[in-house]
Amino acid sequence: MTAASALRVETLRWAADRGVLEMIDQRVLPARFDRLAYDSAAAVAEGIRSMVVRGAPAIGCAAAYGVALEAQRCRDLEPAAFYRALALGIAALGASRPTAVNLRWALEHMQAQLDALAGAAPAVIAEGLLAAAHAVLAADVAANQAMGAHGEKLLADGMRVLTHCNAGALATAGHGTALGVIRSAVAAGKRLSVIADETRPFLQGARLTVWEMQQEGIPVTLITDNMAGHLMQQGEIDAVIVGADRIAANGDFANKIGTYMVAVLAHRHGIPFYVAAPLSTIDRRIADGHAIPIEERDAAEVRGFGSLQWAADEVPVRNPAFDVSPADLVTALITEVGVLRCPTREGIAALFAVASNQATALA
Ligand code: MRU
Repeated sequence: MTAASALRVETLRWAADRGVLEMIDQRVLPARFDRLAYDSAAAVAEGIRSMVVRGAPAIGCAAAYGVALEAQRCRDLEPAAFYRALALGIAALGASRPTAVNLRWALEHMQAQLDALAGAAPAVIAEGLLAAAHAVLAADVAANQAMGAHGEKLLADGMRVLTHCNAGALATAGHGTALGVIRSAVAAGKRLSVIADETRPFLQGARLTVWEMQQEGIPVTLITDNMAGHLMQQGEIDAVIVGADRIAANGDFANKIGTYMVAVLAHRHGIPFYVAAPLSTIDRRIADGHAIPIEERDAAEVRGFGSLQWAADEVPVRNPAFDVSPADLVTALITEVGVLRCPTREGIAALFAVASNQATALA
């Protein structure tokens, strides 16, 4: 698989012949490659909750399709019943996972499309919402490619780059955020090697990042999460790049549990620490990282994995799925509109100003 074929991982794809959304089942990779079909908002919400699809941008895209599917499913209803079903569907999707703000972003975007179509027949609205979901997916791929083009300049030939969790094609509509930057650097001729944290407890690094890199022939070495400090101390890591689930207005950011540990270690060892995320991951409504809601997941994920359990049933467990790293640990934030070094509230506001100027210029 090449950088271009990373787009063909197709984490989510619309099966037009059947009118369903197909998603790669990320719970069973790499042992199995299965696609599951979805035909309603409630089903997509369950797919998000149970981690069939995961990764902030992919969750946002799935939610957009969830709204479109609900509209398709109810297109022959009377308007009042149609709107009621859509409202319930949007509420179910919104409650599926709390941390990744791309979910809220996508639902608000779809609600705005719905509002713009007010007064049209349900079947017409349903077509409009499906087109809007396709556009959300296409915009995510474009944002990732733009992030890759901006971010690859930060990586030099020969670098050994550590990443945590999976911020690749599987976590997005294609190409990826953190792994997208790595893909773009490799496509630009740089020989990089990736060190993948296994990412306990759900093993997104061991299962998904390793799979993506191996598919593409990018050298990858797997480590357990508690090895990162040792490797940094030994001079075996030149840069860290991760994705994000929600970035506050001041640049504090939530990402997969364990990211904070890596950020502190990178700071201690003077290793550049990059965050790659689209503007849809930035939540300007919250001032700083304290207000980011952190999902607490099932204890069974910590007591074991799959059918294997290694800890006693009765042992109390904590399972926060994300942690928050302060902005001052971030060397640069890589977005689709450019790279922001040492992110601050003012710098982040400037990124949105650039985006709005670009939108005006295109209009
Ligand atoms: O629990 P997950 O697998 O949804 O968590 C995913 C992450 O934390 C990713 O790093 C983040 O969403 C960025 S993905 C481009």
